[in-house]
Amino acid sequence: MAQLWGGCFTKETNQLVYNFNASISFDKKFYKQDMEGSIAHVKMLGKQGILTEIETKQLVKTIKEILQEVEAGTLEISDKYEDIHSFVEAMLIERLGDIGKKLHTGRSRNDQVALDMRLYTRQEVLETDELLEKLLNVILIIMENNINTYMPGFTHLQKAQPVTLAHHLGAYFEMFKRDRQRMEDIYQRMNYCPLGSGALAGTTYPLDRYDTAKQMGFEGPTLNSMDGVSDRDYLIEFLSALSTIMMHLSRFSEEVIIWNSNEYQFVEIDDAYSTGSSIMPQKKNPDIAELVRGKTGRVYGALMSLLTTMKGIPLAYNKDMQEDKELTFDAIDTVKGCLALFTGMLSTIKFRKDRMEASAKNGFTNATDAADYLVNHGVPFRDAHGMIGQLVLYCIEKKAAIDDLSLEELKAISPVFEKDIFEAISMKTCVEKRLTIGAPGQEVMKKVISIEREYLSKDWKEKIKDWESELFK
Ligand code: ARG
Repeated sequence: MAQLWGGCFTKETNQLVYNFNASISFDKKFYKQDMEGSIAHVKMLGKQGILTEIETKQLVKTIKEILQEVEAGTLEISDKYEDIHSFVEAMLIERLGDIGKKLHTGRSRNDQVALDMRLYTRQEVLETDELLEKLLNVILIIMENNINTYMPGFTHLQKAQPVTLAHHLGAYFEMFKRDRQRMEDIYQRMNYCPLGSGALAGTTYPLDRYDTAKQMGFEGPTLNSMDGVSDRDYLIEFLSALSTIMMHLSRFSEEVIIWNSNEYQFVEIDDAYSTGSSIMPQKKNPDIAELVRGKTGRVYGALMSLLTTMKGIPLAYNKDMQEDKELTFDAIDTVKGCLALFTGMLSTIKFRKDRMEASAKNGFTNATDAADYLVNHGVPFRDAHGMIGQLVLYCIEKKAAIDDLSLEELKAISPVFEKDIFEAISMKTCVEKRLTIGAPGQEVMKKVISIEREYLSKDWKEKIKDWESELFK
């Protein structure tokens, strides 16, 4: 057992209690952030005259050495320490003696862990955003290449009206674009530094919280020390946004699975992204899409879990909060993995334009347009709707599409029909006449694509300066 406390204890901690309490097995994940936070803290203590220049230099130098050794694999983060904070402090004391013992001046593990988790998550928000951006790029390329690839649009999974592949994928573009906006939004709201909050009530040392905040690229310090150590809202927001990403990925996966089925054959998943069956030699399964769909529950679970953990916690820090880590780490790794794999699968998928167009041609996807034709010739919409209903019934009996009927057959339903009906209900007309912004018609689709191209050419992350290199100077 290696712990930072125990001065007022008269008995050794029970080993099971120690194990139950310890967090090093998972909080070692943010060893780097922990040491970066310590460097910023020490530098500030030096500037404020709380540490001497020599002490400051030695501490900063030794933390950097420890970090390098850990990164090089020559120093192992041993599980015998209670948490990552204890490990770093113990290493410093081992190497610097009394000077090492000064690291924790004016700081508590409560504000330290709040900082570490925030630094770690902040970086993950950026990485998630980057993966979303890559996915958006792949989607936009497919859209650009498919503004006149006709396919059926569905409601209730029943063929409804013809659209294009660009239009269908454009819906996902909007979803993932909003997911990116959520990343930017979360980043901005979470980017305040809790360090200096102390255990809960700040500290009597003359800390410069603006300085540490600035060193680590934060907008400023958090403005209430009790909130500083006990706020986990940003994790809940992030987990909620991650859940929404998974919901979007899962819906998209579901479509890929349906489209890849033998009945649809709208897509062929690349061999590199399919898996086989151990018994049925003919099978190529969409396992990646299924796994993405399946892992969605796991990420939702993390969100529910943290919401529930936080709901009864009185101010300020309570040990319950240690539970924020494993599930958040797992959710982040899961979503990042899913985004990367889904993007790979989508960029190699083959769209069977022939199958999509053939499918759009039957299933009466032009029935609305046939009714509109009658309306444009003076028939009240409700009557037109009824007539086309009759027409569809007639077609089903005849096993024909509306387009296949003769003008005489059409006229038997309504004398209003003339030769130009065939042009009016052709798939091309059905799609290309839909020209309100957001609709599938080519002209507006091109406009939307250029708006999205412009959007992708700007990256909000460029506004964020590289704080890491600053700190390691
Ligand atoms: N391992 C703890 C956590 O993750 C660090 C903070 C410990 N603070 C304390 N007062 N015991 O939350």
